[in-house]
Amino acid sequence: MLQRVLSGIRATGRLHLGNYLGAIKGMIQLQNNPQYETFYMVADAHTITTPFSVEELRKNRREIIIDYLAAGLDPKKSTLFIQSQVSEHFELAFYFSSIETIARMMHLPTYKDKVKQYPKNNTMALLNYPILMAADILLYKANLVPVGIDQEPHLEIAREIAKKMNQIYKTNFPEPQRFVTKGEYIPSLTGEGKMSKSVSGSYINLTDSLDEIRKKIRSVPTATIAGEPIRGGIKTLFILSDIFLSKNIYNQFKEKYHNQTLKFVELKDSLAEAIYQEIKQFQEKRKQIASDLSYVEKVIKEGAEKAKSVAQKTLKEVKEKMGLN
Ligand code: ADP
Ligand code: TRP
Repeated sequence: MLQRVLSGIRATGRLHLGNYLGAIKGMIQLQNNPQYETFYMVADAHTITTPFSVEELRKNRREIIIDYLAAGLDPKKSTLFIQSQVSEHFELAFYFSSIETIARMMHLPTYKDKVKQYPKNNTMALLNYPILMAADILLYKANLVPVGIDQEPHLEIAREIAKKMNQIYKTNFPEPQRFVTKGEYIPSLTGEGKMSKSVSGSYINLTDSLDEIRKKIRSVPTATIAGEPIRGGIKTLFILSDIFLSKNIYNQFKEKYHNQTLKFVELKDSLAEAIYQEIKQFQEKRKQIASDLSYVEKVIKEGAEKAKSVAQKTLKEVKEKMGLN
């Protein structure tokens, strides 16, 4: 039987290079492997677990689908859908919430981070975030989940829920694993922490022009003390270079760095150019797709129907096993 894959991105705005390298590239790779059946959603209900604007959310749900299409996700190969249009996700999440404790949820680092970031928004929805994510994945009995390394605590919860459900109710959920990509952790352009849309100056947007990318990369801090190990902004530059430059050129820059002959502006400008070359195609395709909204609406509608037919089957099974039919 084909293995299943599920992933999602919250509808919080423009995508950056970290989202592309950590999540979307893995999504594309699995889509193009005939051993997998792939489901990719817009996690719009997860978006309301942190402060949001109704107008922005309404717009961003469709924008993420357009991003998916522009990046190379193909509705002929993958089921592309919007989470809230498949209400089975919420029903399954409620059943799952009966086997996880509040204490376990409150201890998750991802939860604590969000409470720190939005102290006035410590809601039940936020606490339930990982339970809903487990339902997203297990509803499709997905084995693999292409996401960045920051999502690992959530995958652990999904595995825990799968195991407990199988033990208690004799269901047959797989224990989903993260599909790891080379870009599983893209550091910030500031040299501290990860590239994230909530930290200004940390990211490159997939819609940035060559000029913008060059400016951002040139501003990565590179002050060093001779002989120091690679860290901070320099580490960010080398991680990105390893992904975007040819092995040969990457090695040359690294050698120059070690014998202290490297001019950072040379590395920075080659890197900026290489990043732009890769995302240029995305930008061109995005313009074309955004001009044909009836096509996008069709993809969304068909995606929801396909996802729903799989979701209904799993939910029926769970209800039977739990004595709810
Ligand atoms: P952000 O942290 O910018 O809000 P999201 O939480 O919306 O990003 O993440 C969406 C997807 O992109 C997830 O799979 C996440 O793991 C991945 N991702 C986000 N930032 C990075 C990064 N810096 N490096 C690698 N993957 C990332
Ligand atoms: N938590 C993920 C993020 O912040 C988004 C998400 C929601 C997701 N449900 C999912 C990712 C299911 C993979 C599978 O990026």
